Amino acid sequence: MLARGAAAAGLFLIMEALSGSLPVPAYRWFAAAFGALLLVSCGPRLVTAQTERPVSEPYTGSTNIFEYPGRDQRLQIDRVMDELQIQAGKTVADIGAGGGWFAVRAARRVRPGGRVYAVEINDQFLETIATRARREGYDNIETVLGEPGDPKLPKASVDAVLLLKTYHEVADPVALLKNTRLALKPGGLVGIIDRNGTGGDHGLDRSVVIKEAKIAGFELVRSFDFVKADEQDYFLIFKATAS
Ligand SMILES: C[S@@+](CC[C@H](N)C(=O)[O-])C[C@H]1O[C@@H](n2cnc3c(N)ncnc32)[C@H](O)[C@@H]1O
Repeated sequence: MLARGAAAAGLFLIMEALSGSLPVPAYRWFAAAFGALLLVSCGPRLVTAQTERPVSEPYTGSTNIFEYPGRDQRLQIDRVMDELQIQAGKTVADIGAGGGWFAVRAARRVRPGGRVYAVEINDQFLETIATRARREGYDNIETVLGEPGDPKLPKASVDAVLLLKTYHEVADPVALLKNTRLALKPGGLVGIIDRNGTGGDHGLDRSVVIKEAKIAGFELVRSFDFVKADEQDYFLIFKATAS
């Protein structure tokens, strides 16, 4: 509200300066400069036309809904991990980890010697994951508080990343993917499992994901439909393009 008011005041000052209604030229320069400063610092955030699309509200309900019986089989999560080359000793990031459903499966798979970063923007979910990891004996899960455009992962640290039913909620997807790219070790893979949709309906068309990943410096290496029998969900695997 305050920011919008300040931005409007900035625009008003610029228009006044341009209209020549201020009597002294020095006042005009000052009004234009101050107005521009207000507009730039308080105006709406600009996103490129390439990524302007609806984004779903991040899920904040109970994480129990991700733990339903048969989810391993429906998603064929072992095959997903095979395709992402998740094996003993590897480092994996689960971005949008929710209650840690995938993080614990990956943590089991990378033993011994491997680790999992469970990344969330919701700090309550991170507490849930930390408690769960302690209770279930996974000392190789590290929780990370990310930002909408940055998973806050160490540079060149991960072999594989999975965004499971999360990408449609990411508010700053190209920035998130660019930062994820920096976190990958050479040859690292990024998997995205999601459902076709508009972005605002808890799904996003795969063509949009591929387009945004390309902008962020990724190329599609494989595309699958096995992750759910309803043929709505897709599983895409990307690798960083040579820079
Ligand atoms: C629908 S839930 C899926 C949870 C989990 N991946 C699963 O399938 O069991 C999506 C999660 O992504 C998280 N999220 C949304 N945007 C995010 C971002 N930019 N970085 C990390 N997590 C994000 C939300 O807080 C939410 O917990």
